[in-house]
Amino acid sequence: MTEKTGSDGSRITIDYRDAMASAVGAEHGVSDAMLDEVAPVIAEQHQRLVAEHESGGQRWMDLPSDSVLAAELGAFADEARGRYSDFILIGIGGSSLGAIATIQALTHPFRNLLSPEQRGGPRFFVLDNPDPEKVAVTLETVDLSRTLVNVVTKSGQTAETMANFLVARQALEDVVGADKARRQIVATTDPSSGILRQLADQEGYRTFPVPPGVDGRMTVLSAVGLLPAALCGCDIDGMLAGARAMRARCASGDVRQNPAYLLAALCILADTRLGKSILVTMPYADALFGVTDWFRQLWAESLGKRLSVNGEEVFAGQTPIKALGAIDQHSQIQLYTEGPNDKLISLIAVERYRDRVTVDDVPAGIPDLDYLRGAELGQLLRHERHATAWALTEAGRPNFTLTIPEIDAAILGELFYLYEAQTVMGGALLNVDPFGQPGVEAGKNATYALMGREGYETLRNELTASGRGEEAYRLAPA
Ligand code: PA5
Repeated sequence: MTEKTGSDGSRITIDYRDAMASAVGAEHGVSDAMLDEVAPVIAEQHQRLVAEHESGGQRWMDLPSDSVLAAELGAFADEARGRYSDFILIGIGGSSLGAIATIQALTHPFRNLLSPEQRGGPRFFVLDNPDPEKVAVTLETVDLSRTLVNVVTKSGQTAETMANFLVARQALEDVVGADKARRQIVATTDPSSGILRQLADQEGYRTFPVPPGVDGRMTVLSAVGLLPAALCGCDIDGMLAGARAMRARCASGDVRQNPAYLLAALCILADTRLGKSILVTMPYADALFGVTDWFRQLWAESLGKRLSVNGEEVFAGQTPIKALGAIDQHSQIQLYTEGPNDKLISLIAVERYRDRVTVDDVPAGIPDLDYLRGAELGQLLRHERHATAWALTEAGRPNFTLTIPEIDAAILGELFYLYEAQTVMGGALLNVDPFGQPGVEAGKNATYALMGREGYETLRNELTASGRGEEAYRLAPA
């Protein structure tokens, strides 16, 4: 069963035969009858999404069309690329994972080690975790007099981001003075509200918008993901074109035609009907590992919800796991093949790698190595992926494969849009709201309370009264 590539520019193929009951048995595979059953639900939910979009909702769908913003970002990046030797992105979760995934997929894996001419732009650093060791060495490593800082936060107040930013800002000011530091800071945040917006307006920082009405984890195709990508020389127009091609392909409400809905149906049916509570995403390309990290957040934070849209307790969600082929064949596949049959495994195949490397020299007299003579490493990886899919299927472990022709900007844009549309339909099938993240907000508020932020006194009292931070149930060295 192959869901064919559309004629609209999309180039991703989904082979889902091995996720079906006919391949792995009725106990573990999705059946055609199940797909038939969800088809009308999906068609109806599709109509709802279209109607919501037409009346101003589902704004994430519009991001691929914002060519005015792309031109503005491109112009800014063209100028900045020559001016700065280093670039620090400060943001966390949806405010950094998309940019990291993009830059990992589309630029040289050792980009920071290249000469400025080879790199064609500043070196790239990320301050997401407020880990003092990482923050300190990053600020020691860059040339602060030639560093551009892009602070990204939708809410404009996330503790990790604001703390890292204030430390970086101080470091800049210490080296270049307050006036010049202001010109080395770009803030990506809500156009009208939040603490960072207030600070940016007060200090006169250059700003770009986080699109209102779009959750952080869905902003990769806005200034949040595109500005860092453009600064590192990625083809952001190509990414948006790829996303538009996937959007066109996702215009159908037919579960067997729309790749995002097909994936949503496979994953949610596997989870809710077949006990596959874990979704493994395993690309056979190092460059796509960041995409699995980005998707992990998207799937977990969107679908992991206590309440249904009707307010009933459902504790929904499928746990996303990231793996990397072929490395995890030597680490995780034993568990996936013989451990609990609780996983659906999504493999990502690459038809053509950007480099071709062959094994030219095999020592004579070792017949067991002869099979490698003339072997091409990309072909080895392709065979490894085939072999893994086969072994999983033989063991009754449902899996499917997304095949991409090669890793380029358009494919990346396609993947981002595909996964976003899959996630939104996944929420509909689970009857949960894929937007919002009350569980994340609870932790953010508790952090503010523990850090002594004004307005959070009651929560702070609650937290300290509950015995947290004290010595009960603690085993320390004697
Ligand atoms: O998807 C989300 O909304 C979250 O993961 C946020 O991106 C993350 O918590 C960071 O929030 P903010 O952009 O407000 O700093």
